Amino acid sequence: MSVVPTSETTAAFAGWREAQQARVEQALSQWVPSEAPAGLGVAMRYAVLDGGKRLRPLLALATCEALGGLPDAALRAACSVELIHAYSLVHDDMPCMDNDVLRRGKPTVHVQFGEAQALLAGDALQALAFELLVPDDDSVPPAMAARLCRLLALAAGSGGMAGGQAIDLASVGQALDQPALEAMHRHKTGALLQASVMMGAATAQVSPPTASRLMEYGACLGLAFQVVDDILDVTADSATLGKTAGKDAAADKPTFVSLMGLAAAQAYADRVLEQAHEALRHSGIQQPGTLHALADWVGRRAS
Ligand code: IPE
Ligand code: IPE
Ligand code: MG
Ligand code: MG
Ligand code: MG
Repeated sequence: MSVVPTSETTAAFAGWREAQQARVEQALSQWVPSEAPAGLGVAMRYAVLDGGKRLRPLLALATCEALGGLPDAALRAACSVELIHAYSLVHDDMPCMDNDVLRRGKPTVHVQFGEAQALLAGDALQALAFELLVPDDDSVPPAMAARLCRLLALAAGSGGMAGGQAIDLASVGQALDQPALEAMHRHKTGALLQASVMMGAATAQVSPPTASRLMEYGACLGLAFQVVDDILDVTADSATLGKTAGKDAAADKPTFVSLMGLAAAQAYADRVLEQAHEALRHSGIQQPGTLHALADWVGRRAS
């Protein structure tokens, strides 16, 4: 089934997105503690709240909804993946990595609180992500909690985001070819976006063929997302991005823009997003509209 976006479906998606973003914001505010020793909670809340598109939570929630999964478990999954993402941003911005001073329109965590506190805030957010998935009530059945933890650990660790960040740092000043660049992007960004989809799926009963199409959807969306991030670093300004524009070229990072130029990078992102749509079309999901619209949003976003 093909879903052609109309102004009506676009408006419905915007309404859905804003409602879910508000839900996620409220849940994160409830779950990220302000009470922690020596001001650590203040740094954690600063890193997580009031900013960010919440794309990863939206993917988890939309997938759960599309499959009729457990909403309470999905909200925990959504927030847990956002906590890992927020931690990755805190560390990504530190002087030993990208050395950025602006994030989500505010001074970065290490600028605001110092490097050691930023390191610890990241560590604590990572631990909190897993804590959220194993609540001490019965809102997430134990087998589901274990599966969610496994998916998140695999995506965050050396075979996923952390490994991708290591490739990123080792690639400064190098001209990577397209397969190598793709592999870096699939690790550093794609893994967590794909996990967001699969964690949403893990809150429901999902057949192996549908799960495999969703894996493909998440992988394509994740790769395209980082290609668009590379593009926006060149085309957007810092005020719109909420982070310093032009950093990739200044730091001599290999990106899809440095590899193939702006127009070809955008065409590449569009092609990969079309593959995401194709995967959805074959997923057997009856109402794929929100997931389809999320892929469009990734391609069209301004920040
Ligand atoms: C930025 O991610 C870092 C990358 C993985 C490219 P987002 O663009 O999703 O950042 P926020 O969460 O909206 O701030
Ligand atoms: C960051 O990629 C990816 C992770 C945080 C895992 P970038 O370094 O390109 O992200 P931005 O551009 O600083 O947001
Ligand atoms: Mg980086
Ligand atoms: Mg960075
Ligand atoms: Mg970037």
